[in-house]
Amino acid sequence: MSASNPDRGQWSSKLTFVLAAAGSAIGLGNIWRFPYVTAENGGGAFVLIYLAVVILLGFPVMLLELSLGRFSQKNPVGAIRAVRRRTPWVIVGFLGVFTGVAILSYYTVVAGWTVGYLVKSIGFHLRTADFGTFIADAPVQLGYFAFFLIATVGVVAGGVRDGIERMTRILMPVLLVLMLLLIARSLTLDGAMAGLRFYLIPDFSKITSHTLIYAIGQGFFSLSLGMGAMITYGSYLSKRENLVSSAAWVCSFDTLIAFLAGLIIFPALGGAPAKGGPTLVFVVLIDIFNNMPLGHWAAILFFFLLAIAALTSTVSLLEVATAYLVDERNMSRRKAVWLVGGATALLGIPSALSQGAVGFLSRLIPKGDGHMGFLDIMDFLFGNISLTLGALLLCLFGVYVWKMRHAVAEVVQGCEGFRSWWQLWRLALMILAPLAIGTMIVYILVTGETLG
Ligand code: PHE
Repeated sequence: MSASNPDRGQWSSKLTFVLAAAGSAIGLGNIWRFPYVTAENGGGAFVLIYLAVVILLGFPVMLLELSLGRFSQKNPVGAIRAVRRRTPWVIVGFLGVFTGVAILSYYTVVAGWTVGYLVKSIGFHLRTADFGTFIADAPVQLGYFAFFLIATVGVVAGGVRDGIERMTRILMPVLLVLMLLLIARSLTLDGAMAGLRFYLIPDFSKITSHTLIYAIGQGFFSLSLGMGAMITYGSYLSKRENLVSSAAWVCSFDTLIAFLAGLIIFPALGGAPAKGGPTLVFVVLIDIFNNMPLGHWAAILFFFLLAIAALTSTVSLLEVATAYLVDERNMSRRKAVWLVGGATALLGIPSALSQGAVGFLSRLIPKGDGHMGFLDIMDFLFGNISLTLGALLLCLFGVYVWKMRHAVAEVVQGCEGFRSWWQLWRLALMILAPLAIGTMIVYILVTGETLG
């Protein structure tokens, strides 16, 4: 509790909270991951399934995380212990803490690309062909990775967090406007219509066995769910806030930004993409910048904004493990942050070297006509599977251990009207989420089909 530990804090206002939660949700997941995952999973049909996932699973799980966090005023491990002292369910909390560190380790690598390309665009060196060389350059990759990790550690340790979040209040609208301009440019390129068709017109024959796995994974990843980030953020909330409207805002913003990112990338691709992969979006964006008036300035602004958006996400990833060490292990905030940062650095090195710098790390598993490297595998395991599993366990914990009446009592504080809606919430947590996620897990276990 804030009273017992001076290293805990509370949001100064609802706005700061919504900004922080939206800052966590909006990031590379929307602009880098959503378009390339959509590209690899059939386009329009995937988008439709994704939207259903956000509404039917994402929103209810977000409400659960926020309410559990506010109820317990704790990190994910402490939150579970606050409901029941000794219980094997704490595993879910630990899974979240570890998943946060694992995602942070490779997410920071990609965030480093945005800084690298910011530097390149400032120096007028924006060439599509260079991207492959850039990400295969070991010292450069390690350098940007370290830079971004240190920036994240600095923000979480240094208490300038609030400042960054307030800054995003101005920066995110700028990002939105810039994205609209990029959409306008992209839509006027040759072949834009074919690309749009791929993105917006569902072709259900394109749905593969992986579609559901990736749609659910992408939903939780993009909304920062399944590993306790929203539990931790909710724990800093006051009882007066309306959790329902906060969750609705964050889900809508996040989905809007992802959708717009697709409107930039797909028209520029001019049809079904030949090859997806984590580099897709960067290559396409650089192409667009090179083909637009004042593209150089647009690139500087865009990569800057994207780096800030990534920073508000990495901060939330680091925050979960930090809050755990501060709350449960009585560590000082500063020490906790550096410890987690150090572990993340070690775990992230193979990802940083897996885009060509080190051959075997870059080609661990064959996939389609290419390969999956260390970064892709980390992203699949932690960014998809682990978050999804975490969300499922959390739903079961909420329904059967914490119990709906306690959860509802928490949500009702600040939102009286929720009393007439809670049955729908229960339906989502008790039936929909376990059914969808359970089917997915059984499918993976039975077919043995996972990556590739
Ligand atoms: N939601 C973030 C994004 O879309 C990534 C993230 C995942 C952050 C999980 C926190 C927890 O970029």
